[in-house]
Amino acid sequence: SQQTAQATVNGKDAKTQISRQIYGQFAEHLGRSIYDGFWVPEGSNIPNKGRIRMDIVEALKKIHVPNLRWPGGCFADEYHWRDGIGPRPQRPKMVNTNWGGVTEDNSFGTHEFLELCGMIGCEPYVSANVGSGTVEEMSKWVEYLNFDGISPMATLRAQNGHPAPYKVSFWGVGNESWGCGGTMTPDFYSDQYRRYATYARDYPGTKLKKIASGASDFDYNWTEVAMKKIGTRMWGLSLHYYTLPTGNWSKKGSATNFNEIEYAKTMRNCLKMEELVTKHSAIMDKYDPEKKVALVVDEWGIWTDVEPGTNPGFLFQQNSMRDALIAGSTLNIFQNHAERVKMANLAQAVNVLQSLVLTQKDKMILTPTYHVFDLYQVHQDATLLPITIKSPDYTVDDVTIPSVNASASRDSSGVVHISFVNLNATKKITVSTVLQDVNYKTVQGRILTSSKFNDYNSFDQPNKIKPTVFTSAKKQGNQLVAELPPLSVVVLTLRK
Ligand code: AHR
Repeated sequence: SQQTAQATVNGKDAKTQISRQIYGQFAEHLGRSIYDGFWVPEGSNIPNKGRIRMDIVEALKKIHVPNLRWPGGCFADEYHWRDGIGPRPQRPKMVNTNWGGVTEDNSFGTHEFLELCGMIGCEPYVSANVGSGTVEEMSKWVEYLNFDGISPMATLRAQNGHPAPYKVSFWGVGNESWGCGGTMTPDFYSDQYRRYATYARDYPGTKLKKIASGASDFDYNWTEVAMKKIGTRMWGLSLHYYTLPTGNWSKKGSATNFNEIEYAKTMRNCLKMEELVTKHSAIMDKYDPEKKVALVVDEWGIWTDVEPGTNPGFLFQQNSMRDALIAGSTLNIFQNHAERVKMANLAQAVNVLQSLVLTQKDKMILTPTYHVFDLYQVHQDATLLPITIKSPDYTVDDVTIPSVNASASRDSSGVVHISFVNLNATKKITVSTVLQDVNYKTVQGRILTSSKFNDYNSFDQPNKIKPTVFTSAKKQGNQLVAELPPLSVVVLTLRK
């Protein structure tokens, strides 16, 4: 069966750039993200350069990952960067108390991370320790990475093989400071931020973009206090929100084994990002009407129960067609709020939570989420075209959500891209779009879809879900008509 939706793209009011940084990723020292993920053992047969796994690097390069956040997460507020520099055999070991109580050997540290970013071609986003670290520690880390000249830290960096400064701009000042990052109140944290940020210096050639630890979910008071007390002393204020299928942290739901009601509930929870971004932005507008401070959603994605039989502290979960629909819908929300949302980081890139890639020994698979980032990369740094959409509802039991969501942009060569997501599990939706002030002659498209919301790519069937050519979009008079199959992410390309 099928239904119809109407959309309008406004080509005249195009003024906001979609920051490519909203396509950012996150790599924490957690489970198999770094160790047995990005970083392989010495002498491994898996193709690597200096122990950095090359199939992952190639995959991330292909989707133009703009930035990578590291070393956490909760781990960041227990991490002491000096333990992760210098000759590896001499680096002290530590316990990763947050994630499984495993021993961290510090073999992957600052230089290794920056080497990885260089290979991917992305900007580093370093999250500094405020919870259990000191002002001096953060201040010296900045000097170590960014000062070009003679100083204790610059000299140490040169001794460790890198005379040139790394010029790292993005700095997180603590992570989840209301919880694992120190259980602080917003008042106390805001004062701490001001101290830490004072001594995190802008060395010549590198102006820092400091990101304050922000609210969890609906904690609007945190944003209010941070804006009042920190204001434009920060480049960005973070927000963390995870989609839980059941909404219950003690029983989140399976990554692949769920029915339509749970699917619909998950999508309803995912779409709450719209409300969150709108309301946090409204508070920010009160203190910063010129939108100088970015809203940085530096942790987002679906969080399910771990795969049966895996370490519960490692947060390893499969990735289904549902994940792809979450990625497409969330990225549409961020793009439509590009005026305020200037950076975001999916949690996490490799083998943790809503991953882009999963590895098993020497094998690597691209997840449905990866393919959405691939399809959507055309929007990076493009100009947002405001879109309105009247969509039929999708109702399952007591859950009602709009079936279709969308976003659109025009790139620097004048090519327009529209991303549509059809969340409806049973109905095809025909969307008729009026394009105001947009001239185009040809329409092409790519689609990611699967017959079941819990289909996924496995190591046995790695290409079950992958993008294909979409041919069901046509220009009809002044309308662009596209037939979106159930459970699909479609990106259209309109050329003059
Ligand atoms: O991404 C996993 C964890 O979720 C992060 O370490 C923490 O910041 C959040 O609670």
